[in-house]
Amino acid sequence: MSKFIIIKNKINLFKRKYISVPGDKSLSIRFILLSSLSKGKCIAYNLLKSDDTLDAIKCMKKLGVKINFRKSRCEVFGKGLFGLKYKKNLILDAGNSGTTARLLCSVLIDTNYPIKIIGDRSLMKRDMDRIIKPLKLFGAKFRHNKGKLPIIISGTKQTKPINFIENLGSAQCKSAVMIAALKTFGKTKIKSLPSRNHTEIMFKNVLNVPTKFRHEKKYDFIEVEGKNEINSFNYKIPGDISSASFFIVLTLLSKQKNLIIKNVNLNPSRIGIIKIFNKMGAKIKFLNKKRYKGELVGDIFVSSNNKLKAINLDSSLNSSAIDEFLLIFLVASKCSGVSSFKKLSELNKKESKRLDWGIKILKMMDINVKKTKNDGIRIWGDKNLKLDKNYKIKNYLKDHRIFMVSVIAALSLGGNWKIYDPDSSNTSFPTFLKILNDLGANIK
Ligand code: S3P
Repeated sequence: MSKFIIIKNKINLFKRKYISVPGDKSLSIRFILLSSLSKGKCIAYNLLKSDDTLDAIKCMKKLGVKINFRKSRCEVFGKGLFGLKYKKNLILDAGNSGTTARLLCSVLIDTNYPIKIIGDRSLMKRDMDRIIKPLKLFGAKFRHNKGKLPIIISGTKQTKPINFIENLGSAQCKSAVMIAALKTFGKTKIKSLPSRNHTEIMFKNVLNVPTKFRHEKKYDFIEVEGKNEINSFNYKIPGDISSASFFIVLTLLSKQKNLIIKNVNLNPSRIGIIKIFNKMGAKIKFLNKKRYKGELVGDIFVSSNNKLKAINLDSSLNSSAIDEFLLIFLVASKCSGVSSFKKLSELNKKESKRLDWGIKILKMMDINVKKTKNDGIRIWGDKNLKLDKNYKIKNYLKDHRIFMVSVIAALSLGGNWKIYDPDSSNTSFPTFLKILNDLGANIK
């Protein structure tokens, strides 16, 4: 692929009324890891085919799991809860994927040989302490680079259940503890700030793991009972709302009247972006809603809207919109009034420092923006915002979401954009540019 793309023209009316986006990344990675621990053949339909999922598959193959992945059908021949093949000198490369690296550590809790986990330049900068701390309590030992990769994990056959308080609102952290709990005798108890709950739903509705959860005031309370083999299962993965969000924003900010995005995962712990936009005056609706194995799935109906209002957001929706804040900042830039967001320190711990990048991109667009105390941001929106200068997006650690949000800014607000490293979108959404071109974008 070329080193950069140039975008000089906005997109006006779309050539299509419907689109679909690829399978959900969180569900796809959970399927790959959990089916590997099941007893027998599992099939996923519409599994995301992207760098992150392919890296997760490579890691599981190195642990002796047979996996066939053709088109979007993925067959995994599970080895059972304790059947992975641990070998000497094994190095597993999680690529760019924080979810893979963190959940993989929990899968390896019982390894009898030390296993090294590495990742790309972005992943090597990310915090692993958040999972090292709880996984040590299960009995595993870690060597690491000041809480970061590379990690060497030495497991134990004498794992013991734990009590753990998860205070970051991190689904990866909570899920790592839940998966490690599968390999212990007894009950692991987690008190966790709310975050996406796909692991809980899969444990209960798909894997039949004895799991309890309840929500009380600020926290979720989860109990997982370990040492029960997981039977094989099949799973149809719905579209990823994080990928759909780029098209929601493109429609909101363009002249296109309506767009329908088909068959998307609408789990309430993931739809913060829709709730936020609807509070700002958008009228995004869900159609054809149904339950699939405990997950809510449906179509998203979105219309363009040039009357959006600013928002003063309290932090309660932060975790359900955690991957979408760059898009939310973009919309806040093109509406009337001053928007403010708080407690977003986790954004700077993603594939790149996304809070800082959000501010940088908005400043580049001459938007008045300020970082506030409390890891927040204030944005002075401009309802009539139109861009007409040159903009360059480079050296952003190939963060897929920085690349894609820049493309959406260019197509909806104008200007002359040079955006480097277009292969970044392969991390989560390899067909991103193709779908835009199908809608009429003409990006080469
Ligand atoms: C994910 C959880 C989120 C999110 C990431 C995927 C998951 O991270 O940002 O892209 O699949 O569990 P947190 O650990 O901060 O919740």
